[in-house]
Amino acid sequence: MAPLGAVFTPPSWARWAVERLDLPARVTAGATVCDPTAGEGSLAFALADRAQGGGVLDAAWAGRITLIDREGDFLESFARTWHGRYGFAFPEANLVEGDVVTRPPARRFDFVVGNPPWASYPELDPEDQERYRPWFRDLDLVGRPSELLLGRSRLDVAALVTARAFALVNEGGRAGFFLPLSLFHSGSAARWRRWVPDAIFDLTEARVFPEVATRYGWAEFSLGSRTKAPRYFTGRPDAWVPWDAVQDAPDGPWRLVPPGARSPVPRFPLAPGQRPRQGLNTGGANAAFHVPSPPTDVDPALVHPLVRPGKPEKWILVPYHRDGRILEERELEASGLAQFWRDWKERLAARRGLYLGSQLKRGRWWALLGAGAYAFAPYKVLWSAYGQKRLVPQVWGPRGDGRVWQADQAL
Ligand SMILES: C[S@@+](CC[C@H](N)C(=O)[O-])C[C@H]1O[C@@H](n2cnc3c(N)ncnc32)[C@H](O)[C@@H]1O
Repeated sequence: MAPLGAVFTPPSWARWAVERLDLPARVTAGATVCDPTAGEGSLAFALADRAQGGGVLDAAWAGRITLIDREGDFLESFARTWHGRYGFAFPEANLVEGDVVTRPPARRFDFVVGNPPWASYPELDPEDQERYRPWFRDLDLVGRPSELLLGRSRLDVAALVTARAFALVNEGGRAGFFLPLSLFHSGSAARWRRWVPDAIFDLTEARVFPEVATRYGWAEFSLGSRTKAPRYFTGRPDAWVPWDAVQDAPDGPWRLVPPGARSPVPRFPLAPGQRPRQGLNTGGANAAFHVPSPPTDVDPALVHPLVRPGKPEKWILVPYHRDGRILEERELEASGLAQFWRDWKERLAARRGLYLGSQLKRGRWWALLGAGAYAFAPYKVLWSAYGQKRLVPQVWGPRGDGRVWQADQAL
């Protein structure tokens, strides 16, 4: 098994990270910490050096630190260096050789701090792809395991390791990780973004890992409390630049607002079915489609009232099924509309326009623009499309008589 993502944290940044989480004081006060992908233990050494400086480093203190790594050699090297540096053995029970994703320890910790491996799924060697594929699904990071195949997903294995590591944190505890920043904006990490950090530090300019070409940073999380939005920082430790981060959808990418700019209202994401529509458009043939009252010899299911506040009542003939399909010719005949439009047929067939053109070419001279299943939604939120300084939306419907209010494009 080749080491996965073995880029160790430089000592000065390991010190910075443990101080960000206030670990030196918290561990001295009795809190427990785990580094789930510990390598040769840079984060543990940064912490122990502080404890030694404060004169509190002893076996009981060391017993609050747990290191996990799937490479036993790294942990052995850590243990040797520890003994040489501090003159006593690191507690063996707190060195866990194993894969934190597939065999997480049963224990929980007050803090989890780490620098997990960074590699997108397609970059993993075949053995690791095989090993981790089911876990992406089990930890609810992808909908179907097949999303990961054929390089379609750029989801980073750091998402998998951290998803597992979050579960090692006691309720109310905290976690901090060095992470690729793609996790905060790529579509493939949408499910992972259910964990919202308190703060993200973009460390790319600070060149913490000079050999890494992608953008990366440090993110810290409070588990068990719902953070609305992270504080986001760029720059360097002596001059952080704060940005506002906004998210337009619960699992959407974080969008940054430049320092000093007014924090925008989040954009309102619309599902395709919620797209604003312009109402039914007759392609210049209102005289054929609009009628002052429902014609007696036309199927009433095809006759709908137009919204025309303050104007005389009008109805529109809509030769469509409720699911948005246009009537077939024999259905038009059966509905009474073919007969009703007897004298209009040629003029309706001569209408112009791109969409109408394609329907007319297929012989459907009774087509309307803007007709679809949405035209039959029982409720409509309507507003005047032009000529108004203020947007005054109104809710129309449901009517209760099987007819559906239709927006009049001529409004
Ligand atoms: C980027 S290094 C970071 C090491 C260390 N935390 C540091 O900051 O110097 C990632 C480490 O994670 C280990 N690793 C990768 N995947 C792992 C897994 N699933 N479980 C446990 N350790 C893993 C690798 O062996 C490597 O030592």
